Amino acid sequence: PGLDVLAKRAGLLYFGTAIDNVVLNDTRYTSIAFNRSEFGQVTPANGQKWMYIEPERNVFNYTMANEIVIPSKKAGQIRRCHNFIWHNQLPDWLTSKNYTKAELTSILENHIKHEATYFKNDCYAWDVVNEALNDDGTWRQDIWSNTFGGPEYIALAFKFARKYVSRNTRLYYNDYNIETVNNKSLAVVAMVKDFQKRGVPIDGVGLQAHFTVGRSPTYDQVSASIAQFNKLGLETALTELDVRVALPDTPAQQADQAKIYADSVKACVDARDCVGVTVWDFWDPVSWVPSTFPGNGDADLLDANFTRKPAYYAVSDILRDD
Ligand code: G3I
Repeated sequence: PGLDVLAKRAGLLYFGTAIDNVVLNDTRYTSIAFNRSEFGQVTPANGQKWMYIEPERNVFNYTMANEIVIPSKKAGQIRRCHNFIWHNQLPDWLTSKNYTKAELTSILENHIKHEATYFKNDCYAWDVVNEALNDDGTWRQDIWSNTFGGPEYIALAFKFARKYVSRNTRLYYNDYNIETVNNKSLAVVAMVKDFQKRGVPIDGVGLQAHFTVGRSPTYDQVSASIAQFNKLGLETALTELDVRVALPDTPAQQADQAKIYADSVKACVDARDCVGVTVWDFWDPVSWVPSTFPGNGDADLLDANFTRKPAYYAVSDILRDD
């Protein structure tokens, strides 16, 4: 049985993968990516981001997103939609001009309104805001926080999202380096508590889980971080799991990598309200890692020949054990 079949047996809602547009013409890739037994959930790795969805102001283009959303619907997979707001992959029209707070508010609402309405019945969850924090727990300086004079745009984005997504769609805050109890994850906890006090809608926290062999959090650490959000009544998910190694890869590193994958998946399975795990692509050649961290790579479950690595078997085993 595939990973999603095993994940469901272990009590998760899904085991999923990110899919990028660059390899959609490779049938070896697509026959796995759109196989519901392997991946019951899909995240478009790029196609739903602002620069592709609204390349010119108030001009919307769903082509790239649909290249993934449509076949995944045919395959019977669910989708985590990604994302409404991020500091990255914004269109030039938005970053090259100084908008006022009022203008940016209406730009934000208009963007969320169009994208949320277009994908109304297509998204199990939306990453409403992505990576708004620095690792020390302070707010990231970007076009949003600078124009709004702080993080209030985040609450606004969640309110707009609630207004336009379907009733069943879960609204997530998604970030990296929040997989342990640390300044950054504590800042997310504080944000959620503040939202709950003020009636700002939020349903979940996505822990990205971009890990590195040799310095990854342990099972206990990941479990403890997940628990702080479950305790607030939110669901959680590992939304972008991958485990990079320093190249060249070795059997010892592959074994370490396998353990980190398995421990991470187990932390989600064992948690009270962790709904699923998404790998940030499953095939080494399309991983985002080598271009961002030169000298690192081989972060995924399948190697260049589509051969299952020890990590694949470790995930499969941990799901079977449960
Ligand atoms: O769209 C152009 C295309 O026109 C051009 O031909 C091609 C040539 O290289 O580049 C394309 O843009 C690339 C884009 O992905 C689409 O493939 C960008 O150069 C590249 O930088 C971009 O990388 C994406 C990255 O986010 C941007 O920061 C990765 O694929 C994507 O996996 C990655 O995903 C992020 C999550 O959204 C948030 N969390 C971290 C995660 C990993 O960085």
